[in-house]
Amino acid sequence: MTFPDKKIVDNTTNGAPSIQHSARLVAIQVITGVLSQQGALSTQLARHQQDVSSEHIPLLKELCFGVCRQYPLLNSIALHLLSHPFEEKDTDLYATLLLGLYQLGYMNTPDHAAVHETVEACRSLKKDWATKLMNAVLRRYQREADEIIGQLEAMPSVEYNHPKWLVKRFVKHWPEHFEQIIEASNSHPPMCIRVNTSVVSRETYLENLIEKGIDATIGQASPSALYLRSAIKVTELPDFEKGFSSVQDESAQLAAHILAPRSGEKVLDACAAPGGKTGHLLEFAASHQASHQNANAILDLTAVELEPWRLEKIEANLERIGLMANLQCADASELSTWWDGQAFDKILLDAPCSATGVIRRNPDIKINRKPADIDELSAIQKHIIDQVWQTLKPSGYLLYATCSLMPEENEQQIAGFLATHDDAIEVPLNTLNPDLQTEWGVPAQHGRQLFPTLKGHDGFYYCLLKKQ
Ligand SMILES: C[S@@+](CC[C@H](N)C(=O)[O-])C[C@H]1O[C@@H](n2cnc3c(N)ncnc32)[C@H](O)[C@@H]1O
Repeated sequence: MTFPDKKIVDNTTNGAPSIQHSARLVAIQVITGVLSQQGALSTQLARHQQDVSSEHIPLLKELCFGVCRQYPLLNSIALHLLSHPFEEKDTDLYATLLLGLYQLGYMNTPDHAAVHETVEACRSLKKDWATKLMNAVLRRYQREADEIIGQLEAMPSVEYNHPKWLVKRFVKHWPEHFEQIIEASNSHPPMCIRVNTSVVSRETYLENLIEKGIDATIGQASPSALYLRSAIKVTELPDFEKGFSSVQDESAQLAAHILAPRSGEKVLDACAAPGGKTGHLLEFAASHQASHQNANAILDLTAVELEPWRLEKIEANLERIGLMANLQCADASELSTWWDGQAFDKILLDAPCSATGVIRRNPDIKINRKPADIDELSAIQKHIIDQVWQTLKPSGYLLYATCSLMPEENEQQIAGFLATHDDAIEVPLNTLNPDLQTEWGVPAQHGRQLFPTLKGHDGFYYCLLKKQ
């Protein structure tokens, strides 16, 4: 385990010092929020990024995502260097130290600038008493980095850059896929888009991208997926504002292809925000409609979401692609609060989960996810599936999905469900890409598990159930 040779370019070191300083101070606030469990990294960034000018948002994100992604290593180094851990009230100083170590190890910020910025940050936090300590700790690290890392690298959390409990679970559950899971989860995710095939074919959209000089390749599992060679702003995507494409991981795109909603069907999207799959279900049905039908009339789609602020994201997503659903802000398991009693033909239950298949997109999981969460989430998923099953018509289909790699949330969840529901049967999934003769995922006891792949799709789980 060593820090990388090639460091991430920090273009701001020549810019106005006050502005770059502010990006670093906001990064301290964001990381402090994550460390003190005040919310997920994405929530913290959304809350604080307006305090930074738009040109410095990439630096802010690099610092925050970087610290979370490298947290197991940075945390071990920091604890090794400190004779006493910081008290809880000084979590902001701990965040400052982690950011300083990240800049020294992973960014091209000159070392003296990284140390100076970190020490100055203590003053900005009105904790001048910590400047000497911070300076001494970082300077020691500069001198002894190789030796310190050498002493720490035998720890599984450092070797694999994941918390020890997760390493243990991945080894236990997926020994053959362990290396792949770790490598992909430590990587930067690729930018994958979903082509709205109700308005343009994937081939034509790929040509449009190439014409604009945007290099892309087709996804092998989802017929609507394209991978961009490098990430770009969504506004640079051809006709993005008209809804011709959306950013969505390839594994997540499989949901609509599996459930395949058709004209006239009544469909439930039970845990819907931010609405990626809601939009795709509508696009899928629209792309299979008779040409004279109004795209909005073909699918009677109800999307239920617990969090009001997340429901707004579904609204915005649907507005952009120009399609409609009946949006309900409710707990999907409290049927009396949102269900009118008319049964659904098809249900997508994309359940809240540990997100252990998408760690590279949510690297704060390495900091805050705990073993006890898996049992808690599994109980929540059980409750939701038991309840929404009641809203499914006989002969109807329910697609259970998570972005988790934990069997407790996936195959074991479904095993428990099948054991207690005589009217449920598992339907085998069609996983074959006929053009390439490849299959996605691996078979689980029930359903199909996908692992995150380097430069490819995220980790996901699907199981299709039918009501007899
Ligand atoms: C995995 S995300 C869904 C992602 C979404 N299907 C998509 O593709 O964009 C799970 C969502 O379920 C919501 N949720 C959690 N518990 C819920 C419940 N009891 N009822 C409805 N929504 C719930 C969460 O707020 C979160 O937005």
